[in-house]
Amino acid sequence: MVAYFFNLQNRENLKTVMKMSKHFLFALLSSCVVAVFVHCQDQSGFISLDCGLPEGSNYDDVDTGINYISDAAFINTGDSKTVSPVFSTVSTVLSNKQLWYVRTFPENIRNCYNIKVTSGTKYLIRATFMYGNYDSQNKVPDFELHLGPNLWARIRLYNESRVLPFEIIHASTLDYINICLINTNLGTPFISAIELRPLKNSTYVTQSGSLMLLARYDMGSTTNRSVRYGDDIYDRIWRPYITSTQLSTKSAIASSDDYHPAESVMSSASTLENSSERIFVYFETFDPISQFYFYLYFAEIEKLQVNQSREFNIYLNDEMWFGPVNPTYLNTTTVFSIAPIGKGMNYFWLNKTKNSTLPPIINAIEAYTVKEFKQSQTNQSDVDTIIKIKSTYGVNKHWQGDPCAPREYSWDGLECSYNGYDPPRIVSLNLSSSGLTGNIAPDLVNLTSIQNLDLSNNNLNGSLPEFLTKLSYLRVLNLSHNSLNGPVPGFLAKLTSLRILNLIGNKLTGSVPAELVRRLEDGSLVISCDGNPNLRCYEKKKNKFVVPVVAAAAALFTLLVALAIWLIQKRRKEQAFGYKRNDSLELKSRSFVYSDILRITNNFKRILGKGGFGTVYHGYLGDTQVAVKILSSSSSQGYKEFQAEITLLMRVHHRNLTNFVGYCNEGAKKGLIYEYMANGNLQQHLSGP
Ligand SMILES: *[C@@H]1O[C@H](CO)[C@@H](O)[C@H](O)[C@H]1NC(C)=O
Ligand SMILES: *[C@@H]1O[C@H](CO)[C@@H](O)[C@H](O)[C@H]1NC(C)=O
Ligand SMILES: *[C@@H]1O[C@H](CO)[C@@H](O)[C@H](O)[C@H]1NC(C)=O
Ligand SMILES: *[C@@H]1O[C@H](CO)[C@@H](O)[C@H](O)[C@H]1NC(C)=O
Repeated sequence: MVAYFFNLQNRENLKTVMKMSKHFLFALLSSCVVAVFVHCQDQSGFISLDCGLPEGSNYDDVDTGINYISDAAFINTGDSKTVSPVFSTVSTVLSNKQLWYVRTFPENIRNCYNIKVTSGTKYLIRATFMYGNYDSQNKVPDFELHLGPNLWARIRLYNESRVLPFEIIHASTLDYINICLINTNLGTPFISAIELRPLKNSTYVTQSGSLMLLARYDMGSTTNRSVRYGDDIYDRIWRPYITSTQLSTKSAIASSDDYHPAESVMSSASTLENSSERIFVYFETFDPISQFYFYLYFAEIEKLQVNQSREFNIYLNDEMWFGPVNPTYLNTTTVFSIAPIGKGMNYFWLNKTKNSTLPPIINAIEAYTVKEFKQSQTNQSDVDTIIKIKSTYGVNKHWQGDPCAPREYSWDGLECSYNGYDPPRIVSLNLSSSGLTGNIAPDLVNLTSIQNLDLSNNNLNGSLPEFLTKLSYLRVLNLSHNSLNGPVPGFLAKLTSLRILNLIGNKLTGSVPAELVRRLEDGSLVISCDGNPNLRCYEKKKNKFVVPVVAAAAALFTLLVALAIWLIQKRRKEQAFGYKRNDSLELKSRSFVYSDILRITNNFKRILGKGGFGTVYHGYLGDTQVAVKILSSSSSQGYKEFQAEITLLMRVHHRNLTNFVGYCNEGAKKGLIYEYMANGNLQQHLSGP
């Protein structure tokens, strides 16, 4: 028996800790090893980035003939550095050259490459790291590698010359992928190379998830050299696994399926002395929750005599997995998992059958673990749109990687909706004070889920465009302090979700059209339009102040008189401006979402008081002061009472009562919005000194 052990615990390491007991290093049969650099093979679709290589430069790799280009066009942050000369001679699976330069990211927590791919195509993606003391600190960093919004691997380098290639087989549903480096406060992230190789979709099929490489070995290698592109059409890197007994051939080896392992890998195999009967292959991971996929490759490379036969069964964890296998002469047979295997330790027995005269062989082996990427990337249309907006306005923000995901790294100025595994949507865009110029960009129309758009404090000009009416979920539109001109268009009334429209400080002209005034009157929309010199803004309702009184006894009387006078004045004023309040309010038109409440109260900044119901906060709705009562979760008043209070408030509409403005009822988050009484309550005045 012969045993091959693979300890996969240190995945980064991908090194076998225990080889066969009787292994010996084969002398290089240099005369047989024909270094074939097949440059005519099709490398179309390969994306090969030498990270940190000066912008615009490229070279053909001497070993593989692959053309490597600078990564500068795929990322707009990071610095180019070169590794210490001591390390540019490290022997590696990559040509040294790809390790000479690195790109480092001293700034920002997350930095992302954006690489265009063909959506739905399966790619082998390889990210390679070698520290090489590029910063002369002699301190290897520790950081995270993310694929889009999901953690791909933790990068632990252990020493300065360790070359760590991380490989994953992944199909993007979108037409780009993001490869991100995350600073975890354990040193500056960096990267040496990124390679993408399209695969046939018929290969490496999983039930779900992507496949992260654990091990890929050229069993019974006679050269002790890694094999990759040129020999391997997909540029998989096959590491040599030297065994005590091996077979090899100089004849060509055919492949009848799409896996196509390199011929030079298949032309050698591990086997046993004739007396032996079994090969044992053992993978150990100590990770009981992982799931694995295995790929075993066989080809007969000995011309068998008539009386000879080679036949064996493959057992996985003591159960029959596949068999019998009769490797075909000079032709590859691939035996692979069609479902994940979930065990921390996995072992194969390759047991010779009774009829077989020759021991089993194995030419190559691959082991992968399943990576389930649970966090969805942001809706592609939102991504395309926000990237367009970024370029239209030349937005100068650190906007890299996925806009919304993961939540903790979402783009500055964006808020998104997260709904289980659905792709996140952009619901709020804040480009306030961002130096925007030109018109309101038509690109915005494709942010179809947007609820809150803040373009205030810029230098936007032109008129208010009609496409805004397509943003049917828009609740808050802040265009204040720009140079917008033309009339306030009536079509804005079509935005039935709109609650707050801020047009302060522009160059708008004319008057507020009747359609909008109607929305104002029924309380479903607050418009602020001061500071437009040529715009006749509507007349604001006066704040209803309760006049303070000093003398306790006379207070009430004085108060009522004052109120009476004020009410008469108010009615006159209302009639003069031709509108009065509409009492038949729709419950719906008064509902606010919780994010509105946050905005109105400026994140509950100022507390006005506390009551049995909950806390009361000060806020602004447009430029009207309001008081917002938040139902505390510990309140004895439950949902029913809350509903009852709203219904009552909707009905009771007396001028001497504070005005009910609206409510919020979002699950446990319940609140009521009243007009603000600037001078406290009656009791305070009556019980004063
Ligand atoms: C394969 O060989 C091993 C080693 O002798 C043995 O333990 C195992 O039972 C064999 N499997 C079968 C199914 O014969
Ligand atoms: C072994 O060989 C005999 C005769 O050649 C044949 O009848 C039998 O089916 C073979 N058994 C297996 C398991 O292949
Ligand atoms: C937008 O950002 C500015 C600061 O950049 C902030 O003052 C403002 O409140 C934000 N607007 C919203 C709606 O969050
Ligand atoms: C909005 O998206 C559609 C569909 O993707 C596209 O055809 C259109 O050009 C986009 N509009 C703008 C203004 O970007």
